[in-house]
Amino acid sequence: MMLTVNGLSQEAAPRPGQCLRTLLRDLGWFGVKKGCDAGDCGACTVHLDGEPVHSCLVPALRAEGRAVTTIEGLSGPCGPDAAVPDRLHPVQEAFLAAQGFQCGFCTPGMVMTAAALDQGQRRDLGAALKGNLCRCTGYRAIADAIAGIADAIAGIADASAGSADASADSAVAEGDGAGGDPCGRSLPAPAGPAVVSGRARYTFDLAVEGLLHLKVLRSPHAHAEILQVDRAAALAVPGVVAVFTHEDVPASRYSTGRHEDPRDDAPDTLMLDRIVRFVGQRVAAVVAESEAAAEAGVAALVVTYAPRPALLDAERALDPDAPRVHDPGPPGADAPPLHPHPNLAAEVHGQVGDVEAGFAEADLVIEGTYRSQRIQHAHLETHGALGWRDEAGRLVLRTSSQVPFLTRDALAALLGLDRAQVRVLCGRVGGGFGGKQEMLTEDLVALAVLRLGRPVKWEFTRSEQFTGATTRHPMRVRVKLGARRDGTLTAIALDVLAETGAYANHAGGVLHHGCNEVIGVYRCPNKRVDGVSVYTHTVPAGAFRGYGLSQTIFAVESAMDDLARGLGLDPYLLRRRNAVRPGDPLVSTSLEPHDVAYGSYGLDQCLDRAEAAMREPGGEAPPGPGWRVGEGMAMAMIDTIPPRGHRAEARLSLTGAGTYALAVGTAEFGNGTATVHGQIAASVLGTRPGRVRLHASDTDAVGHDTGAYGSTGTVVAGQATLRAAEDLARAIRAAAAARTGTDPAACRLAGEAVETPAGPVPLADLAPLDAVGRADGSPRSVAFNVQAFRVAVHPGTGEVRILRSLHAADAGRVINPMQCRGQIEGGVAQALGAALYEEVRLDGAGRVETQSFRSYHIPAFADVPRTEVLFADTYDRIGPLGAKSMSESPFNPVAAALGNAIRDATGARLTETPFAPDRIYRAVAAARTCGS
Ligand code: FES
Repeated sequence: MMLTVNGLSQEAAPRPGQCLRTLLRDLGWFGVKKGCDAGDCGACTVHLDGEPVHSCLVPALRAEGRAVTTIEGLSGPCGPDAAVPDRLHPVQEAFLAAQGFQCGFCTPGMVMTAAALDQGQRRDLGAALKGNLCRCTGYRAIADAIAGIADAIAGIADASAGSADASADSAVAEGDGAGGDPCGRSLPAPAGPAVVSGRARYTFDLAVEGLLHLKVLRSPHAHAEILQVDRAAALAVPGVVAVFTHEDVPASRYSTGRHEDPRDDAPDTLMLDRIVRFVGQRVAAVVAESEAAAEAGVAALVVTYAPRPALLDAERALDPDAPRVHDPGPPGADAPPLHPHPNLAAEVHGQVGDVEAGFAEADLVIEGTYRSQRIQHAHLETHGALGWRDEAGRLVLRTSSQVPFLTRDALAALLGLDRAQVRVLCGRVGGGFGGKQEMLTEDLVALAVLRLGRPVKWEFTRSEQFTGATTRHPMRVRVKLGARRDGTLTAIALDVLAETGAYANHAGGVLHHGCNEVIGVYRCPNKRVDGVSVYTHTVPAGAFRGYGLSQTIFAVESAMDDLARGLGLDPYLLRRRNAVRPGDPLVSTSLEPHDVAYGSYGLDQCLDRAEAAMREPGGEAPPGPGWRVGEGMAMAMIDTIPPRGHRAEARLSLTGAGTYALAVGTAEFGNGTATVHGQIAASVLGTRPGRVRLHASDTDAVGHDTGAYGSTGTVVAGQATLRAAEDLARAIRAAAAARTGTDPAACRLAGEAVETPAGPVPLADLAPLDAVGRADGSPRSVAFNVQAFRVAVHPGTGEVRILRSLHAADAGRVINPMQCRGQIEGGVAQALGAALYEEVRLDGAGRVETQSFRSYHIPAFADVPRTEVLFADTYDRIGPLGAKSMSESPFNPVAAALGNAIRDATGARLTETPFAPDRIYRAVAAARTCGS
């Protein structure tokens, strides 16, 4: 058939049943993204004869004789390989100016939908954008983009202004931060033009000759032994070239979780196992010439299982007769660690002071039990990897990962290869939120490449994302607080049950982290923590934004609210009275020898600013009579870097007349580090960020990088960049001084030259120079967040409306206010989804019921209130150029602040997330009964 794509007449032969999305990608239009393949997310939106459509829902044959416009052709006719056009479409320009994206994976679809809106539709963006999901931004920047560039620029402030909603920043208009220190300014992301024009290349956005496709059969049982896999019928499917089962893979156990020290995670996983321990576990892999053939091969596999009793209730996990998830392995490095109970994956116990004496001296003791549910990262780009051998015969993996170096090391160890024989790199990564701190696809792809000698691709479906990837740890948290009449805390006790699911990836790390800063933030002499993380036969939990703290903070900050009510104290006052302050030891338990210090302290400012702002006029009016209005707040502290080492290396080179090449290992997945690294380097080198060309997330780029997790992109990789820049600047000054016979100390870098007492020396006249900077993630600082809400609750329906949302953050010196504001808005939006409706639901057999965005509701445009972001004004003496991390921590206080606001409005204390309307309705009715 013939169709026109972006002004080009193209001939195509769609496969039977093929959708327009895959046809367009087959033709090389990689701006058309796959987020769900079910019409739910809108990442694949294109114009068909001028009308926006979800191309995954349109049969390819329907495009015959019609005109298709993709994001690449929005500003004019072009070919699939055309560069970023000189002139963008006005909507693309607006998204660029407002930085209406983070990872950018939703952006092509969002821009295509926005470009087709008429004036009437623009007045109701909630309805107009209901078919386009964004997981990163919280939609504020998207709304700004659609409303117009001027509005967006006017909403951005210098960090020093203390508020992200104050004054204008001319740097945006200048585009590249010409003149002045680029740090502290809202400069645009260097990848912005490529993102908004659909040219940014994500994991699968490249054509590979001779590509094979991998699909896996997943277990229908929560617990079973595989007796036999009959592959004959699968191998008979035309196009199938191989089937791999547990008989074909290395016997080494490993963990999918990745940390700097691999011993942090129990090695309890096999690439393909004879025992399946959750519904959705990989059983066998089929590799074929096409995805369809691979799927047909999977369907043709005949597997004989011997089902076993399954443990689906975490509360029962440590019962003596509970089904065992893992048999104790043979002694040795490959065996899971032997705990007293085989279902105990990790535990933490510690105490300071005398907790019982502390409760005895309290005038009021508050106790509560809180439950946080299983939720999914739901990044729009699913997990996936593409592998091949390069000309030198090395194994190359292009993967959607936050940890390319740690993945390389794990692959080398698992497959018995020298590390130098493996290269792992990333394209632009379409979101992560901790979910891509796992090795979930690379191992099987690598195995298939090595065995078959051809390039192999494996891309998760959205359904697999829910059944075969990881989740946040469900937790039950018991908290007990004691305080004197004036509010002074006398004792804190925390008892945590975390559910790690079938495998222990991140079980220990999440448990320790979740039990740490949550009480470390309070200056109380008597503290006790008891926590366990248990195996069950359910989909594994893993790293998730906040890394355990969102669940425990929900409990402790809710209990603090009850304590304030019980004592008749203002909740801000209670926090101020008990919050740690510089000079106090940062203590959670006796177990925590640590390297954390107050690099800067802005918790007091966060409390003051949130409280003062909430007292000022603003926000929405209540929807009408019958609604009850209340306010609530919660605070949070986070260590700015994960413990026990987080390393980064940066290599910076002078490449010509004032241009530089910067190589870092960390990945850009919407966290904004690519922009920040350019700003840091440019700040030291006296140039503009646009003159610093970045090469990132490639194991060939630098020696090592632990990875982009724990909000380390700015504070660790940025520190390495800063050190490299300082060394290079020194070398450049010395070279210029040597040429002019002057003192290096009197020389200054200024754009394309070095100013010396003897006159300027053009950088182009200097020999090539480079420098390497390293950071090891120690010492660490602390960052703070305070969230406040005003809500309206309808007691008759349980519906909750957010009338006002305020978030105050201490991020140290904010290197890029607009991007940092976006991280906070996105974190609050994601946390609101978790607090209000998101839940990975399992049925009685352990099967995930919520396998699509239709059944797993993530916040859409209409669901997210605007959050006013306020920055504390501090300068961190530990972080690079005064900066602290601010990516995952905004998530953490949201559920508690919302629950406290609902409590204030209704008298009902919610102890379990999500706060679904039926749950609120029942709690309000129960509170009314108790009160009457
Ligand atoms: Fe929208 Fe990442 S920027 S999904």
